[in-house]
Amino acid sequence: MRQDILDYLMENQGTFVSGQKISELFGISRTAVWKHIRVLKQRGYVIESYTKKGYCLKEAPELLRPEQIANGLKTGLFGKKIVYFEKVDSTNTVAKRLADQGADEGTIVVAEEQTGGRGRLDRSFISPFAQGIWFSLILRPTFPPMEVSKLTLVAAVALTKVLRRAGLIHCGIKWPNDILVGDKKLVGILTELNASVEKINYVVMGIGINTALGKKALPRELKKTVTSFAIENVPVQRVELLQDVLRELERYYDVAGEQGFAPILEEWKVLSCMLGRDVEVSASDRSFTGKAVTLDENGNLMVETANGMERVLAGDVRVRPSDRTAAIE
Ligand code: BTN
Repeated sequence: MRQDILDYLMENQGTFVSGQKISELFGISRTAVWKHIRVLKQRGYVIESYTKKGYCLKEAPELLRPEQIANGLKTGLFGKKIVYFEKVDSTNTVAKRLADQGADEGTIVVAEEQTGGRGRLDRSFISPFAQGIWFSLILRPTFPPMEVSKLTLVAAVALTKVLRRAGLIHCGIKWPNDILVGDKKLVGILTELNASVEKINYVVMGIGINTALGKKALPRELKKTVTSFAIENVPVQRVELLQDVLRELERYYDVAGEQGFAPILEEWKVLSCMLGRDVEVSASDRSFTGKAVTLDENGNLMVETANGMERVLAGDVRVRPSDRTAAIE
């Protein structure tokens, strides 16, 4: 029904149509019409409404429709197959199911909205309609399973390059899977693995980039720690950005396959916003503080503490309050 109302408003874009007319056309009450309009507005449709004139669609959000993504996509493999949803629980969950069923490497699952977006450490990831790029990429790498965590670092390098080119010139990587602007999170990466001891069956790399996410959509506790292109006042086209991201991800994935991870880890160090800063590390078995100094050859974070050098393989790392004013989530 909502889609029918939207189609009707689109056919009449720029002119007012009365609530009465819409309610007669679709056999619903005027209150029901108003409720559908309210949801469309929440989704980013700019609809003017006046009691006497009715409703007028002024602007529609840019959607990530497969035909738009495919048009001008300059990759060999990534994004050549696209599975698209207006609304889904989590693109990673769908991508894992498709990969189990044999989906090709490079297939992407894209959604305008996720109702159960997931992050690392069982956290949820806010993904409202058309306010970000929420997608998952299926990979079938031939390197050993123990190398897989480096893929997150590869993705972070590729993404940071694209985001800087798109105008967020000060964004940087927070180990292992976030991209920040200042101390605020712009991008999260969730890499999930299906493997036997010696062989990777597939990797699903889920990426969430906040584009139009506004402060209104954020719960209070995230307002100080999350940002977006819109909050940073940098205009962006979602389709173009996704095309660039796919191209750069593919380029770096190919470099890793041909030359190994070493050159990319060097780039990671340059693009990081964390090295040289005081950090608090919470791993499953221990917590400590120190200075983040470098990455080792396996992509683990090396932290200099009062008791010597610590190697962080997994866990949560925060920049210490003494080193900045607000906490990083
Ligand atoms: C994190 O912040 O810890 C990672 C967040 C990853 C979010 C992306 S959005 C697309 C994909 N689907 C999910 O449910 N999560 C990832």
